[in-house]
Amino acid sequence: MNAENKCLTETNPFTPEPARIVRTYHLTEDVKFFQVRFVDMEKALQFKYKPGQFAMLSILGAGEAPFSISSSPSRPGLLEFCIRKMGTVTSALFRLKENSLIGLRGPYGNGFPVEEMKGKDILIVVGGLGAAPLRSVLLYSLDNRDQFGRVSVLYGAKRPAEMLFRDEYFALKQRADLECHLTVDADDTGQWPERIGVVTTLFPYLHAVDPVQTYALVCGPPVMYKFVIKELIKLNIPKNQILMTLERRMKCGVGKCGHCAIDYIYTCLDGPVFTYWDVIHMRELI
Ligand SMILES: Cc1cc2nc3c(=O)[nH]c(=O)nc-3n(C[C@H](O)[C@H](O)[C@H](O)COP(=O)(O)OP(=O)(O)OC[C@H]3O[C@@H](n4cnc5c(N)ncnc54)[C@H](O)[C@@H]3O)c2cc1C
Ligand code: FES
Repeated sequence: MNAENKCLTETNPFTPEPARIVRTYHLTEDVKFFQVRFVDMEKALQFKYKPGQFAMLSILGAGEAPFSISSSPSRPGLLEFCIRKMGTVTSALFRLKENSLIGLRGPYGNGFPVEEMKGKDILIVVGGLGAAPLRSVLLYSLDNRDQFGRVSVLYGAKRPAEMLFRDEYFALKQRADLECHLTVDADDTGQWPERIGVVTTLFPYLHAVDPVQTYALVCGPPVMYKFVIKELIKLNIPKNQILMTLERRMKCGVGKCGHCAIDYIYTCLDGPVFTYWDVIHMRELI
């Protein structure tokens, strides 16, 4: 490669790096887990990210799409993704076997303000595929448990079979240093040992919440936000301590194409994590 070409690939923000799928398996019928690793060891070591950030994954001939990083930066080397089969890119990803190569660029977006959250209590409210971005911040807080106050998790899935990382959540229930409540909208197995109802029905089971001390982190289907925020406001959690990750259509991920813009906000740069205070008057966002 001549010097000019080398310079172009090193500075072009759209150039993906080759990464290998180390492990992949179904989490549910239409959601798969992918563990990937950069082919270049230096790149793997240099790749620093924050919980809540996303990466663009690409497949030759199929295209690329943004996906939240589900692993935690406290466990470097491997990156994990949790992907629902939707269309062209995700269907192509689902066909790939372990050892296949994909392209990866990033990390992008603002992520959760984990430094600001240190010393505070964390309340994580998950709905369905919201487990993908929130798993990163959950693992991060558990790996740095002494740096956070109380950690509480509320997770709602439609049915038992659709609860992502179910074993991980059941293991959390055994821990004495956090509170975890699980629910499903409906139990079609007759064997679900936890609660039944939408995620907001879990709020009364939370032990005392100190609102000023609490950061609430929310991610789930669009319909969930309105109801969850109502509960968080009832608990008096300040609006600028209610953080939500919101997905918009994105193309470049780096503030160039305008696909994700709402008014003056580029959600790929200013998001995908927003405070409720940020979005309260932006009806289009939630
Ligand atoms: C910051 C960010 C993080 C994301 N993280 C994840 C993740 O962790 N796991 C995951 O499975 N998905 C995630 N997504 C969504 C994922 O990027 C899209 O579903 C992507 O379009 C799938 O590509 P595709 O080619 O398979 O589907 P496409 O062929 O592009 O689309 C399939 C269908 O989904 C619709 N669609 C596509 N993108 C969106 C969108 N953003 N909002 C609403 N509808 C859409 C299309 O209109 C079409 O009907 C994230 C999106 C963003 C912006
Ligand atoms: S995705 Fe291109 S500007 Fe945000």
